[in-house]
Amino acid sequence: MSLHARLESALDAALSAACAPPAPPRLAHAMRHAVVPGGARIRPTICLSVAAACGDDRPALADAAAAALELIHCASLVHDDLPCFDDAGTRRGRPSVHAAYSEPLAVLTGDSLIVAAFGTLARAAAEAPDRSATLVTLLSRNTGMPFGICAGQGWESERDIDLAAYHRAKTGALFVAATQMGAAAAGQEPQAWEDLGALIGEAFQVADDLRDTLCDADMLGKPVGQDDRLGRPSAVSELGVQGALRRLDDILSGAIASIPSCPGEARLAGMVRAYADRLVPSAAQGRWAVPGE
Ligand code: IPE
Ligand code: IPE
Ligand code: MG
Ligand code: MG
Repeated sequence: MSLHARLESALDAALSAACAPPAPPRLAHAMRHAVVPGGARIRPTICLSVAAACGDDRPALADAAAAALELIHCASLVHDDLPCFDDAGTRRGRPSVHAAYSEPLAVLTGDSLIVAAFGTLARAAAEAPDRSATLVTLLSRNTGMPFGICAGQGWESERDIDLAAYHRAKTGALFVAATQMGAAAAGQEPQAWEDLGALIGEAFQVADDLRDTLCDADMLGKPVGQDDRLGRPSAVSELGVQGALRRLDDILSGAIASIPSCPGEARLAGMVRAYADRLVPSAAQGRWAVPGE
């Protein structure tokens, strides 16, 4: 089965468990709306790719790890789009959850997806209880306070933002979770995989800043120009478009160099290279022509 098929099937199993009777139907629909159809599924793909590179001797555990990670990511997007955060009416080319189902249901959708993520890991514990406990620890560390996406979003409410801590927590944390959980699901020591996740996360953040500047809302399926509108610091405002693209290349070369030695090392490096090409759509790169850059 392809990585994609494994992930979609694990997500479907998690949603089916969470949305079974006597679930209130509108909240159940809102949860599915938040998760399916997905976006790029980049974090769980990295997780499964690292598990594969490490031998993937417990595929059911790797699938649970990947699904849990994506459920957390989807929950973060539902909450992020709420009027009290970014007030975004569209996500993945469709109405955001609060626009389609109401604010109370969007709050509950995010909450329920977070709980479903940890429930998914708990159900997979029978596979290998010690590895499962490590997966729970890694996911909670990278989701909550003080290192995870909650901390990242929290920085937006501070008067003085620690930019590095903000980006590391908001964006980097789930990429670190992706590489470390992939390794842990396959029985490997997760620590060695931290740098790869952190560097991919950094590259993703720079690419996200570039897309916010270079792409239009139709291309991305969500509002653009958000960084400017919300007065957020970004790699493009700091380095310009060309500088940000150069930085992206440098970070990804570092990411490839950081891959720990493992049976699937070369294949994983190929995946990171392929991922780099997808980060900033070439159609968008062709669009900018800023004099002086
Ligand atoms: C968007 O993440 C949120 C950020 C952390 C910037 P993705 O671009 O991975 O979103 P989807 O899952 O593909 O829609
Ligand atoms: C997304 O962040 C939410 C989290 C990372 C928790 P952004 O607000 O920067 O991303 P988009 O532009 O809405 O996808
Ligand atoms: Mg936001
Ligand atoms: Mg947002």
